[in-house]
Amino acid sequence: MNREDFPMLKDDIIYFDNGATSLKPKCVIDKMVDYYENYSANTHRGDYDISFKVDMEYEETRDLVKDFINARYKEEIIFTSGTTQSLNYVANGFFENILEPNDEILITTSEHASNVLPWFRCENKIGSKVNYIDLDSNYHVTIENVKRAITPNTKIIALAQITNVIGDLRPIKEICKLAHENNIFVVVDAAQSAPHIKIDVQDLDCDFLAFSAHKMFGPTGIGVLYGKKELLESLEPINLGGGMNESFDNPKSIFLKDLPLRLEAGTPNISGVIAFGETIKYINKIGIDIITKRENYLREYLIEKLVKIPFIDIINIESDSSIVTFNIDDIFAQDVAYYLNKYKICVRAGNHCAKILKNVTKVNNTVRISLSFYNTEKEIDILVDLLKNKDKIIKEMF
Ligand code: ALA
Repeated sequence: MNREDFPMLKDDIIYFDNGATSLKPKCVIDKMVDYYENYSANTHRGDYDISFKVDMEYEETRDLVKDFINARYKEEIIFTSGTTQSLNYVANGFFENILEPNDEILITTSEHASNVLPWFRCENKIGSKVNYIDLDSNYHVTIENVKRAITPNTKIIALAQITNVIGDLRPIKEICKLAHENNIFVVVDAAQSAPHIKIDVQDLDCDFLAFSAHKMFGPTGIGVLYGKKELLESLEPINLGGGMNESFDNPKSIFLKDLPLRLEAGTPNISGVIAFGETIKYINKIGIDIITKRENYLREYLIEKLVKIPFIDIINIESDSSIVTFNIDDIFAQDVAYYLNKYKICVRAGNHCAKILKNVTKVNNTVRISLSFYNTEKEIDILVDLLKNKDKIIKEMF
């Protein structure tokens, strides 16, 4: 689908590493080049035409993002460098100010480093405790296990909506309901979900949600922190500087701007934000539901073929997303990736930054196929044909 939109697909590579970053359509690349070639002024600072154009397009992206995730107010959309910065911002700027030593933070062992390490830091700095919601036998989160993990001290539940190795879709709406009944905040890492499924933050009722443009056909270095307005109002800016203050004279008289600019100090990633707007228009034109449907079909197509290979062990046969993770008996995951690379097939191998997942799966490294709607059945057939022949893999992998 839409392969002609992606310049990199003109090469003969087979790109199955969309969980790491997606390819970019020409319209997004053109938009970045257009900005740099024709109107590369700063934003929110100039009083001349090209700077007005920049302001307009920058803020148009904020509106597009607001509608894309159905936020209530545009002030709830903060541009960051990506999911990692968004999650760190929430942990440092909001929770570090309200957490107390006995408070508990619930995560799972299948979270990405960006949704583990900021909470570990809270534990190390404040003495709050990071605890884990048990995963079921498929490594999924069930509402029953969330209920079991909650204690009177639980303050935060921080979860990926879709995880980057297991590819499971968490019941975030039900979790938010349960959490709020118990006065618990919910932080959602949507890095692996925003590119693939419809997100409606008002329906989910999450408190904070983070995602990156580069996994959803947009530029690198730009992402979003969504937060409920009343919570963002009390999020302390981590960065102080230009563009976020109204005035200052001395340490006792500093007046900051209102949301959202208060949380966007310094010259932002302007080309990234503007091209991200183009990205959202692109996704809207195709339809996120069409993307979900296509990717679900491709996942099932792939799994159906992989299960027939006796020496392949699929870690997440119940994947809900476009992520399929596996190992070949007796062959190191990275060696499989090197072998596939000889045939210009791009996959990711390793622990995928989910470094404590091995504590439950007992598997250190895996090969990960992460599909996108532009992948094809033919590409999957080529991959499966190469994986079928174990002797060939062993012969050719070095
Ligand atoms: N978080 C990205 C991945 O899962 C980089 O590959």
